[in-house]
Amino acid sequence: MSVNLLLFLCLWASSFLVTRSEDPYLFFDWNVTFGTIAPTGIPQQGILINGQFPGPNINSTSNNNVVINVFNNLDEPFLLTWTGVQHRKNSWQDGTLGTGCPIPPGKNYTYHFQVKDQIGSYVYYPTTAMHKAAGGFGGLRINSRLLIPVPYPDPADDYTILIGDWFSKGHTTLKKMLDGGRNLGRCDGVHINGRNAKGDGKDEPLFTMEPGKTYKYRICNIGIKTSLNFRFQGHNMKLVEMEGSHTVQNIYDSLDVHVAQCFAVLVTADQEPKDYYVVASTRFTRRVVTATGIIRYTNGKGPASPDLPPAPVGWAWSLNQFRTFRWNLTASAARPNPQGSYHYGGINITRTIKLANTAAKVNGKLRYAINGVSHVDPPTPLKLAEYYNVADKVFKYDIITDTPPASIQEIQLAPNVMNLTFRTFIEVIFENRETAIQSYHLSGYSFFAVAIETGTWSLEKRKNYNLLDAVSRHTIQVFPNSWAAILLTFDNAGMWNIRSEIWDRHYLGQQLYASVLSPERSLRDEYNLPDNTMLCGGIIENMPKPPPYSI
Ligand SMILES: *[C@@H]1O[C@H](CO)[C@@H](O)[C@H](O)[C@H]1NC(C)=O
Ligand SMILES: *[C@@H]1O[C@H](CO)[C@@H](O)[C@H](O)[C@H]1NC(C)=O
Ligand SMILES: *[C@@H]1O[C@H](CO)[C@@H](O)[C@H](O)[C@H]1NC(C)=O
Ligand SMILES: *[C@@H]1O[C@H](CO)[C@@H](O)[C@H](O)[C@H]1NC(C)=O
Ligand SMILES: *[C@@H]1O[C@H](CO)[C@@H](O)[C@H](O)[C@H]1NC(C)=O
Ligand SMILES: *[C@@H]1O[C@H](CO)[C@@H](O)[C@H](O)[C@H]1NC(C)=O
Repeated sequence: MSVNLLLFLCLWASSFLVTRSEDPYLFFDWNVTFGTIAPTGIPQQGILINGQFPGPNINSTSNNNVVINVFNNLDEPFLLTWTGVQHRKNSWQDGTLGTGCPIPPGKNYTYHFQVKDQIGSYVYYPTTAMHKAAGGFGGLRINSRLLIPVPYPDPADDYTILIGDWFSKGHTTLKKMLDGGRNLGRCDGVHINGRNAKGDGKDEPLFTMEPGKTYKYRICNIGIKTSLNFRFQGHNMKLVEMEGSHTVQNIYDSLDVHVAQCFAVLVTADQEPKDYYVVASTRFTRRVVTATGIIRYTNGKGPASPDLPPAPVGWAWSLNQFRTFRWNLTASAARPNPQGSYHYGGINITRTIKLANTAAKVNGKLRYAINGVSHVDPPTPLKLAEYYNVADKVFKYDIITDTPPASIQEIQLAPNVMNLTFRTFIEVIFENRETAIQSYHLSGYSFFAVAIETGTWSLEKRKNYNLLDAVSRHTIQVFPNSWAAILLTFDNAGMWNIRSEIWDRHYLGQQLYASVLSPERSLRDEYNLPDNTMLCGGIIENMPKPPPYSI
């Protein structure tokens, strides 16, 4: 054996040892129950995790192994997804009905995933029924490892603010409405971390700040369907991160946070010491609904002023704000290489997929579709059907084409699965032909959000793409009668949900799955079916387990 080879083997072996000792485990036991909550002041049934609403914050660091044993003490099946956690090679843990079975009532399931090579601000929430409208959600943060420089000084503390619209009817009634083909209508309220200040001088603060210090606030829209504008009374926000990417650090008075999006900002306590409001108010709704919360200076001497900062008006403001978001090309990513070292603008596009959302009645009931297909979840999860080699008994690949027809009058109900070739660089155009705003999310990846424009997309529009410093993120809004373009390499094998985050639309079929298969069934590309995987659907339960992937 040559000395070089020996040296190589030693390094190789020690890299395993190092990796092992460097990747700690975080263990959680979560008890999911019904309980009483009052996000808009009126007590109602909600979903608690360990008695909390919103649920516990997960505070992790890049490469941590996260093990969460979820006990479903509801009387209905339940499943959680971890939005923006990429689950490299591991769509088994993505927690959608296409990747795994829901946890039956009274049972538990242990999620096990590594937050590999990513940093940033994320959320988790239920994907079953309309549970998201009742709670079961919380924040999930991934800190940078100590050795990796972060492009701003350590904040004095790190606060999570979850904002969302709220429907008082309760998740069971909402589900019945949708099952009956009815529209949800407008929201009844807005909450900030599960509550709304009364403004009577007795509100407990959400958070406190010491004068002179700078704090990080992670702001995510955990709501059902409404874009929200978020702002601080008397303070600016310096944007530092968006869904896992360090941004150019612009200053904002307020931010439009569309459903499922997350921003991290720095706020300095440099004003007169007293209470201040944070405000979340609905955008693009006829009636503006507002929620407030209190931020208190530790040496504070007085209540917050009742004069709330005004919200912006109109779509154009929001579109212009999107265009100010830039990736910081020189900041380190989760690894010590600059974010901009991946030159996405120079890669040839191998396939363009246009996805158009439409609504139509099927048998008299409202359904939402993408390219004419309204997705339904088969009893056997798509990923399990693929793994057990019985996909043909459960769904058909590619029932939609890459170009939607100019007009979609009829909607077909079926599992909607696209075959994406592993490691190809793809352009996806989201076309919003309707008059309501869209927010699209892709699981398992982050993508370059290169353009949002009004009108209709055509090849010439590529001239307008930001091919230099578009932010790499996981969710993008599409304004009415507009389109949005994203670019990405499908290099993460698995079954990944592409969904409208407008949750009534998602529930009524506006979603699909991207099947990305490793041609070699190789462990280098994808993990084996975890031993504790739940089986369901009536086809695979009694089948022999397929041979595992090979090295
Ligand atoms: C979970 O909550 C239920 C209902 O409150 C309770 O009966 C049960 O003991 C709890 N289980 C655990 C493991 O905490
Ligand atoms: C989160 O984790 C980091 C790293 O372990 C730690 O420094 C920090 O204090 C934690 N924050 C909270 C709020 O637990
Ligand atoms: C359920 O919880 C127990 C521990 O209480 C654990 O041993 C078991 O593996 C869990 N089941 C699953 C499917 O994760
Ligand atoms: C980008 O990141 C670099 C490196 O950490 C930092 O020095 C710089 O201030 C950041 N630039 C902007 C515009 O935020
Ligand atoms: C992209 O395509 C062009 C034209 O077909 C070709 O000349 C170029 O070499 C390709 N670039 C890469 C990076 O493959
Ligand atoms: C998916 O596409 C690849 C090549 O693009 C092809 O080899 C494969 O057979 C397709 N798979 C299915 C299930 O259609």
